[in-house]
Amino acid sequence: MMIQKIGVLTSGGDAPGMNAAIRGVTRYGTYKGLAVEGICRGYDGLIDKDSTPLNRRSVGAIIHRGGTVLKTARCEEFKTKEGRLKALEFLRSKNVDALVVIGGDGSMKGAQALSALGMPTVVIPGTIDNDMPGTEYTLGFDTAVNTVLVAVNKIRDSAFSHDRVAFVEVMGRHAGFIALEVGISCGAEMVLVPEKEVSMQTVTDKLVESHKQWKRNSIVIVAEGAMRGSDICNYVKEHQPDLNPNLTVIGYLQRGGAPTAYDAKMAGLFSQKAVETLLAGRGDGVVGLIDNKITVTPYNEVDSCRFSIDENEYDLVQALGK
Ligand code: ADP
Ligand code: F6P
Repeated sequence: MMIQKIGVLTSGGDAPGMNAAIRGVTRYGTYKGLAVEGICRGYDGLIDKDSTPLNRRSVGAIIHRGGTVLKTARCEEFKTKEGRLKALEFLRSKNVDALVVIGGDGSMKGAQALSALGMPTVVIPGTIDNDMPGTEYTLGFDTAVNTVLVAVNKIRDSAFSHDRVAFVEVMGRHAGFIALEVGISCGAEMVLVPEKEVSMQTVTDKLVESHKQWKRNSIVIVAEGAMRGSDICNYVKEHQPDLNPNLTVIGYLQRGGAPTAYDAKMAGLFSQKAVETLLAGRGDGVVGLIDNKITVTPYNEVDSCRFSIDENEYDLVQALGK
């Protein structure tokens, strides 16, 4: 049976490029003759019956906006089978034949569980952390990295003027993609990422060594999942006060803002692939970028398709930053 109507929702942490993807799914869907229903507040909206029809005009002038006009949420009830059955019933009541979920790893698990109940789903990867299996790229990552880079370049002005070590904490509970990408592009002395365990004493020793070589200011990018910026900053302050360290936590600044050209473009390409996949009668996978190609990986194969930080880039940061 050909699908006639699709739903679209955003779920989990918001990310720049989500609006561009809502627009892309809606416009490419209508271009292909589909009706589109926008579900509000992620899986919460499916359970609370909160949705609105979308058309070409209703997604006008959102491509450049951060956040998500459909709103997003984390929904505990959807993790239960009863919750998912309620969601399914609502989708059926709206005559939705298939669903596009824009979100991160958790949202993908939710989409997979909904597929298992008979509702075709595809996921467009959207999270600033870039940490989803089945893709080398997630929407929002490039924007977040560029936002942090602008901030770090300003922080460096002050670190240089005062001969200080500047710690900068960035997001990434489970992955160091943001930290590494920023680290290599800002010329950091070191990046601390969850994938590589480094003790606070080792960090301090390296900074002292650089200090002895007349390096009077340094940037250290700390992914929140590696250690807290406040812990390492206080440790260095206590053990090596001459390094004069300070800390900036970038926080939610890095989750907002207009998507970069790359994120807006990828949102379009991912949207097209998501709609084409559903039209082809498939509804059980995550759209992604692998080897520079737009792909769809079935949910049951994503575990064998995980990407990690680039070892060479990690080593290069230390080699160039000393
Ligand atoms: P993200 O998608 O950014 O990783 P979360 O991990 O918070 O964000 O997941 C978003 C939502 O996806 C959760 O609030 C929940 O509703 C749903 N979800 C997460 N894990 C599962 C799961 N194992 N089964 C069903 N739904 C899930
Ligand atoms: O979007 C992913 C992420 O940014 C993580 O890196 C971060 O720890 C988390 O979201 C925080 O989000 P929230 O406060 O909304 O749970």
